[in-house]
Amino acid sequence: MSGNDQDLLAGLEAMADATLRKRLELMLAARGAFDQELTACETLDDCQRLKGKYVGRDGSLASEAMPAMRGIPVAHKQTLGAEINSIKKTWEEKIKARQIELEAARKKHTSLTDQWDPTLTPPVPARGALHPLNRLMDRLVEVFRPLGFHVEEGPEVETEAHNFDGLNIPEDHSARASSDTFYLAAHPELLLRTHTSPVQVSTLRRVAHDLAARGGIRFLAPGRVYRKDEIDPTHSPMFHQVEGMLVGHGIGMQHLKGTLEYALRALFGPHTEIRLRPSYFPFVEPGCEVDVSCPLCAAKGCRVCKGSGWVEILGAGLIHPNVLKYAGIDPGEWSGWAFGMGVERMAMMLSQTPDLRLFFENDQRFLKAMGGLD
Ligand code: PHE
Repeated sequence: MSGNDQDLLAGLEAMADATLRKRLELMLAARGAFDQELTACETLDDCQRLKGKYVGRDGSLASEAMPAMRGIPVAHKQTLGAEINSIKKTWEEKIKARQIELEAARKKHTSLTDQWDPTLTPPVPARGALHPLNRLMDRLVEVFRPLGFHVEEGPEVETEAHNFDGLNIPEDHSARASSDTFYLAAHPELLLRTHTSPVQVSTLRRVAHDLAARGGIRFLAPGRVYRKDEIDPTHSPMFHQVEGMLVGHGIGMQHLKGTLEYALRALFGPHTEIRLRPSYFPFVEPGCEVDVSCPLCAAKGCRVCKGSGWVEILGAGLIHPNVLKYAGIDPGEWSGWAFGMGVERMAMMLSQTPDLRLFFENDQRFLKAMGGLD
């Protein structure tokens, strides 16, 4: 018997109330049994039962012994009282530690066996998709491809020469003003192209020397363009155009009209009518704006066509002789047509989207709803 146990015994003996003493004796005697039972705990339920027996709020050894401490004479409170308290604390801590241990083991076990079902379909990662504007441009390219048109590309940062000079746009034209066009601060002769028409200039210059061997040229040039516009429901400083151009022998307005009729019917439906209205662009002569019969109301008149039955869709015309000359092509021998259409405008009409900004906000709900554009 250790010195400490002797102290405890002396304390117990000094207690006047036998019932209270009995409760403390039981608690002291249970120390060995507790340790054995704890090691035998295999589950969290076992731990719960052990807790109920030794330290629980009601009817446990500790809950009985605590109030019994009032029977300990003052002289023995230091030893006996402190010992009872410390036993309770030890039991609580040991149960807690065992619970944590069992919980960790359970998690490890479950993740390796019960949670793994090899028959389940693996999670399918979300797939990306082309932007609706890109799909619409692709569709235009596919409409023209069977007619022998390929795709030409040009840089978005262009020279004044390609964007204006080569297109017969005079020095004093308002589009050249820095209030309309983004010029590069460090290179004032460079700008963000304001239309896809500079691709006419770069492509014609590139092929001029062997145009005859090629038998002329026909291409589309889809891409981004930039203008100093405030952003609002129908304007954006960046938008998309698709340029179309054909150069050959004896090309006239009839070829332009026939080709556009074919293409616009393929896009908007076989009953689509087109209408050419005279208009002015420095790089075509004659120039026109082209309308299609409103595909949404079959030309009866609706909100999209503002009741007129027609929707303006693109600008076009016969290539101005100066454009051919600038590129090194003889306008006496060659002629052709060109057009330029706004992609957002067409997409908005087809999808009846009232606000252009929706195309640039990358809201998945909008982009998914645009699935019908192609
Ligand atoms: N480049 C013109 C524009 O941006 C469109 C156009 C292209 C008109 C080709 C005629 C011929 O408005």
